[in-house]
Amino acid sequence: LKKKAERVIIGLGIEGVEEAAKSECLIIVVDVLRASSTIITAIANGALSIIPTLKIQEAGSIAKSIPKSLLGGERKGVRIPGFDLGNSPLEYTSNVVYNRNIVFTTTNCTRVLEKCKQLPLLNEVRIGAFLNVGALVKEAKRYLDEEEGHISIVQAGSHGKASLDDLLCAEIIKTMIQSEGEHRPTADMRRILSSISYLVLSNTKHGKYLSEIGFDNDVRYCSQIDTTDVVPRFEKEGGTISRIVSCSAKTTKQQN
Ligand code: MLT
Repeated sequence: LKKKAERVIIGLGIEGVEEAAKSECLIIVVDVLRASSTIITAIANGALSIIPTLKIQEAGSIAKSIPKSLLGGERKGVRIPGFDLGNSPLEYTSNVVYNRNIVFTTTNCTRVLEKCKQLPLLNEVRIGAFLNVGALVKEAKRYLDEEEGHISIVQAGSHGKASLDDLLCAEIIKTMIQSEGEHRPTADMRRILSSISYLVLSNTKHGKYLSEIGFDNDVRYCSQIDTTDVVPRFEKEGGTISRIVSCSAKTTKQQN
């Protein structure tokens, strides 16, 4: 049997999902700037579900068939014409998203999620970012204790290329999963990590671009470490993301 430390790997994009799918695993999809952070925020603020879709047109027709739905997402970082929301997590306040289903399309993250739909039933998918790192690590540690599979942290990246924001987040998650101690960073550690992550995020190509087009507050927001216990679960069969009721991978599997 492999040691726990050997059961955590980091992958990239669609190939990362394909690689992970070769064996039983829990996949954590990370797109710090900004789709994962937006999904986590929407679910934390009471959205019923997020429905990731590849194409803009497809999103429009799905939204028409779902009651209480909103259209959200971006192209080139900005809100798509005719959509209710862009991809700024700061737009997804409880006033706006509570009790709503959000049909969501973004440049990179929704492509990775689309690939996850083809995964075998045994594989579970979660959404991760800096915002939910503590709860995510708790969930991952429980998975390693209870299940035989591995953890695959898949960075959404940018057009198939790795991006330092996702890589940093993936490495932090991996290190925390592998450490024996608490799953949660201490308050001091949170402050230190948050300022490091802001420095890194604001210096990435996409971080700089977002700041240029007026979203520096998003970059700042997405740099925050461990602000929520919400770990969104992607239900591959139905193609929707929602809050997990039980943190146990075993329980969720039995519910399927
Ligand atoms: C994406 O999925 O490509 C990103 O979340 C883009 C963005 O920052 O809006």
